[in-house]
Amino acid sequence: MGKHILLLGAPGAGKGTQSKRLAEEFDLEHVTTGDALRANKDMDIGHMDTEFDTPRAYMDAGELVPDEVVNEIVKEALSNADGYVLDGYPRNIDQAEYLTSITDLDAVLYLDVSEEELVRRLTGRRLDPETDEIYHTEFDMPDDEEVRERLVQRDDDTEETVRERLRVYEENTEPVVEHYRDEGVLVEIDGEQSPDDVFEDVADTVDSA
Ligand code: AP5
Repeated sequence: MGKHILLLGAPGAGKGTQSKRLAEEFDLEHVTTGDALRANKDMDIGHMDTEFDTPRAYMDAGELVPDEVVNEIVKEALSNADGYVLDGYPRNIDQAEYLTSITDLDAVLYLDVSEEELVRRLTGRRLDPETDEIYHTEFDMPDDEEVRERLVQRDDDTEETVRERLRVYEENTEPVVEHYRDEGVLVEIDGEQSPDDVFEDVADTVDSA
């Protein structure tokens, strides 16, 4: 059976960067609520008991999309996956409890990065809309000029929204990290190393899970 891996970390900690690689090298499904919601930003959620009618309204403000929307996405994705790396979920204690009720986990990893570094990473992040590859204006730009010219910035990577996302993370998601730490299952990884060094630590942990 494939492994069940949970990757936690603040916005910009490198969850997407590491999960993609982990999924490829360990043949796991990459389950990410952020990408799933971005692909369905204008989905009509008006029939649910929510404040706004689409995920976009929450995401562009840096707020959490309501649990009932996100829980459904995760349940569906996990039921179709043998092994998986889950990234972007759970983001509050209620989601963590829901996750416990639908699956078991082999490893819980936490990428530790300081706030100053998170802001630098998020405001400099650029994406290739054709390949979904993640780049950074200072740390990692593509050599190919054609690729460089088509890079775009995510709607929620402006400095103001980034600050709000970090505030929401501190209020809602840090308690989730504490929850797994209290259970004694959290493996903390220094997320400020180079992407390759972070991956080495991540892969070692998954190998021994
Ligand atoms: P989501 O897409 O999950 O965003 P996030 O958690 O804010 O995380 P990011 O994708 O911004 O960062 P990352 O950790 O993946 O970093 P990355 O690898 O790209 O969520 C977006 C929104 O969706 C939320 O605000 C919310 O509205 C909604 N949502 C999602 N899930 C939800 C849920 N469960 N419940 C409710 N709402 C939900 O790296 C960042 C940058 O740093 C890149 O440029 C990269 O090149 C660079 N970088 C990465 N690693 C390194 C390194 N080691 N050294 C130097 N640079 C690096």
